[in-house]
Amino acid sequence: MKDKKRFVKEKFSRVTRRYDLVNRVGSLGRDAFWRRKAAAELIAFPGPLLDLCAGTLPLALELVRQRPRPVAALDLTPEMLLYGKWRLRRHPLARYITCVVGDAEALPFRNHSFQGATMAFGLRNLARPRQGLSEVFRVLRPGGKLVILEFSRPQAPLFAPLYAFYLRHFLPLLGGWLTGDREAYLYLARSIYAFAAPKEVLSWMAETGFEDLRAYPLTLGVVTIYTGIKGRSV
Ligand SMILES: C[S@@+](CC[C@H](N)C(=O)[O-])C[C@H]1O[C@@H](n2cnc3c(N)ncnc32)[C@H](O)[C@@H]1O
Repeated sequence: MKDKKRFVKEKFSRVTRRYDLVNRVGSLGRDAFWRRKAAAELIAFPGPLLDLCAGTLPLALELVRQRPRPVAALDLTPEMLLYGKWRLRRHPLARYITCVVGDAEALPFRNHSFQGATMAFGLRNLARPRQGLSEVFRVLRPGGKLVILEFSRPQAPLFAPLYAFYLRHFLPLLGGWLTGDREAYLYLARSIYAFAAPKEVLSWMAETGFEDLRAYPLTLGVVTIYTGIKGRSV
């Protein structure tokens, strides 16, 4: 567990400056659309919100862009948050975002602190994803909503092998070329193929106590958005 945490932290601290560029190029520009869709799931929630595994703050920014409200952005890797904050230093909406260095598996917040929470491309990186879910459940208010955006594996017969080739061979080359860390992108491919299928993620959410569960794929199943509500009786 500690090893995965250390490994992930070390990887993200090394690719920080080029992380968003590789995302943009590697997803052919789709990543911004995926985050827009995820953020739109919380448009009705006036906040406060929590963005877990916030990285360089792209989803936190999208949340406040769609509706300005307080967002706590938490990440294990200080370099990611610092770089994100620096990039937004002159952005008028940056004042809504408070960065917190911390572990999604042991959140430094009181029970029932947030109305909504997001986690984009974070769950797969947690050493104990179910512990992360139970922590976010704890800090959500009754009636609060969790939105997870995560890579999944496309199932379409023609697209699936093409995508597997792209992920295993092309993306590590591209990522290695742009960031100097090919291994980080080999890890990305491995972690996507090793990660739970949507059905299993939904069962973890249900076991944690989330209700009204939904999962829907985007871009032929390259990613999936999961949503769940913390019941009012909790
Ligand atoms: C793939 S990035 C996603 C960043 C951002 N959410 C986005 O949409 O681009 C994953 C982030 O998860 C963070 N992370 C990994 N394990 C974590 C943990 N246990 N607690 C908090 N953050 C963690 C990493 O530091 C990294 O910044």
